[in-house]
Amino acid sequence: MEIRDWCIRILGGLTLEEKLLDPLELTDRAPGPPLLWDTPSRPANMQFKRHSKEEKLPPFHEHGSQDKRAVCLHRFAGHELLAVEIMAYALLAFPEAPKHFRRGLANTLKEEQGHVRLYIKRLKELGVNFGDMPLYKHFWSHTPFLRSPLNYVSVMSLTFEMANLDFAPIYKQSFLRHGDTFSADLMQQILDDEIKHVSFGMQWLKKMKDPLESEWDCWRNNSNHLLTVKRSRGFSVFEEPRRQAGIPEEWISIIKNS
Ligand SMILES: [Fe+2]
Ligand SMILES: [Fe+2]
Repeated sequence: MEIRDWCIRILGGLTLEEKLLDPLELTDRAPGPPLLWDTPSRPANMQFKRHSKEEKLPPFHEHGSQDKRAVCLHRFAGHELLAVEIMAYALLAFPEAPKHFRRGLANTLKEEQGHVRLYIKRLKELGVNFGDMPLYKHFWSHTPFLRSPLNYVSVMSLTFEMANLDFAPIYKQSFLRHGDTFSADLMQQILDDEIKHVSFGMQWLKKMKDPLESEWDCWRNNSNHLLTVKRSRGFSVFEEPRRQAGIPEEWISIIKNS
């Protein structure tokens, strides 16, 4: 299947099966003209919740409750589905990006689909179906600012995915503290993959940036003005996964001091 057709099915799909479509073979012979997708189609129970701010996640001291942990996992599953859709958006928006970039992005998209499946499985074990709780637009609202592959890696890989280098270990620790080793293992798996996704963004930012510009300046110039560096971190900053992803020390210390 062509990458373009795959992404159109993901964004236009009305079932979860379409969103999680995983063709055995993907080709990229006809990426077509740029296509800026407006809003993804969704199954009826997975529409973006309108006119409401995201409700706060249950605080850590309540994670002893299975229901409260399920609320967290459901929210994270929603983020994974958004990641799938944003990556499909980028593949359709940037047909002229280097072939290697597109191939790497398609592989990352497949891993995000895998994450959705992992969360769905764990949620089922906790008695919840994906779509039972509200889902939010969250980072889809940043797509109007994604107008180049550099915008994409700055906003998605090096902001939202980077923040998960903190949230994944923080939630892992909390789930472990409350005896839920299965959910903790899931967060570890997400963290391991997220390091690769951030690293993908970092490698391409280095390749595509102006050679006279620092990595940090390139991020600042290409991330959208609504995003501050704070959006790329959690309540605590984990330095080691950032080093593993190749984030320069200068950048890590700016994040730490933000
Ligand atoms: Fe993910
Ligand atoms: Fe990711």
